[in-house]
Amino acid sequence: MRKPVVVGNWKMNLTLGQAVLLAREIRLRLGTYDSVEVGVCPPFPLITAVQAVLSDTKIGVGAQNMHYERNGAFTGEVSAEMLKSIGVKYVIIGHSERRKYFGETDEGVRKKLGTALDYGFVPILCVGETLEEREAGKENDVVVKQMESALEGFSSTHLHNLIIAYEPVWAIGTGKTATPETAQSMHSIIREFLMKKFGASFGYSIRIQYGGSVRPENISGLMVKEDIDGALVGGDSLNGERFAEIVMRSGTAKGGK
Ligand code: 13P
Repeated sequence: MRKPVVVGNWKMNLTLGQAVLLAREIRLRLGTYDSVEVGVCPPFPLITAVQAVLSDTKIGVGAQNMHYERNGAFTGEVSAEMLKSIGVKYVIIGHSERRKYFGETDEGVRKKLGTALDYGFVPILCVGETLEEREAGKENDVVVKQMESALEGFSSTHLHNLIIAYEPVWAIGTGKTATPETAQSMHSIIREFLMKKFGASFGYSIRIQYGGSVRPENISGLMVKEDIDGALVGGDSLNGERFAEIVMRSGTAKGGK
């Protein structure tokens, strides 16, 4: 059985004080909730403060990005070594906003994934098509190509911690969630790809999150689908009450408490 996993991507939001307040609220609502694995990914400067609030819970803290080099002259970048030294659990890799605004390439995504695996993080690899690509009927090819290129050269042993997040770009921050059927169809293509490339038991074990305008109102319909194992939540992860609702409805949809 795959344990459902819901992670909040706070993106470039919140000050120190606001982040601590949000973390406290999440701790209060979800600190002892066990049916779903929960994580939050604050901006870099806020990570340690959030960890301090969540330290006595199972809620994991992650980063939204990192560099693939160990260290060196890369002004403005953050390394895996730094994140490891402060006890980060998850690293989001290849988010569409990184690809779109910061020129992140498939090649860069693969290198980051390799570094994340070497350091023992739980990588959350983001894939997803744009509206234009979907309208041209190319969505399956685009996502499979992103997967192929990101996972090229890795073995299933190396990848055992991997989480995939399917985030259709047209659904991010738009209020236009993919229907459960649309999301399930892509999740099953992703799982088939993993099974074919790395073997059935590996493909079966990997958790695939959906991301893109996830709300308490739409999460249950998504989570009852066979291949949807969790969510990567943007906007609604900034509201403790709504984020907790999303987590708990995910657990219920999968038969938990
Ligand atoms: P929204 O939930 O705001 O659409 O963002 C989704 C996302 O990009 C999570 O990584």
